[in-house]
Amino acid sequence: MSAGGNGIVLKDAREIEKLRRSARLVREILEEVRARLQPGVQTIELERHVEKRLELAGAKPAFKGYRGYPCCLCTSVNEEILHGIPSSRRLKEGDIVGLDLGVVLDSYYGDSALTAPVGKISGEAERLLGVAKEALELAIGEAHLGNRVGDISAAVQGFVEKNGFSVVREFVGHGIGRALHEEPQVPNYGRRGHGPQLKEGMVLALETMVTAGGPELRIMPDHWTAVTADGSNTAHFEHMVAITRNGPDVLTREWDKVRAGH
Ligand code: MF3
Ligand code: CO
Repeated sequence: MSAGGNGIVLKDAREIEKLRRSARLVREILEEVRARLQPGVQTIELERHVEKRLELAGAKPAFKGYRGYPCCLCTSVNEEILHGIPSSRRLKEGDIVGLDLGVVLDSYYGDSALTAPVGKISGEAERLLGVAKEALELAIGEAHLGNRVGDISAAVQGFVEKNGFSVVREFVGHGIGRALHEEPQVPNYGRRGHGPQLKEGMVLALETMVTAGGPELRIMPDHWTAVTADGSNTAHFEHMVAITRNGPDVLTREWDKVRAGH
């Protein structure tokens, strides 16, 4: 671990491997939750599954207790952008559900999110998921030496807005390591060539939060759930990426590789 300027903590190879283990666990559990998305399922049942899996893995939830957040998992449905609290709410056909999970394993944090359909969804919802996911891939593609944070931000904003959707301003991606939220902040809007330089050993949780309508949001009376002001649908995807001399190393992708049999 070393200081990268601007309060940014750079990680050495050993620490990146620890973060990869945390990232892999998050992704493994998220995939199990995704497989449970069906009409009639209560979001609290998804939380219970996560609780059990974390215990089995000897890991701690990163979100539970964070500023008083009550659960391990965030389940954000349709117009809920993020920080939806699992409850007795039952999912129904056509919903899109954001699943956001953070863990602590061996003192290192893992954080990842995806948005997935419940049964058959509308063509517009399909397009929203596609754009938010592709925006995250573009963000990852910009996460290399020689670039700045603003290059990531501008790529996401440009692509999302070109597709007629909006990026959320109030929530941002972040550094991650022995803390859930480290410097730098990584907004989904900004200008090329601006912001901190990307350095070898930075690990970023890049998260695209995209709305089908305008960018304005409201916080619900539960003090957590962020919803679009215009009631439009939203999608959220998040990956952890290490900046290396060989380009972006997507730590949360390890599990996908394992599943593919590599
Ligand atoms: N992935 C989100 C983030 O990095 C989730 C945080 S939920 C909270 O901010 F409860 F921890 F706030
Ligand atoms: Co995050």
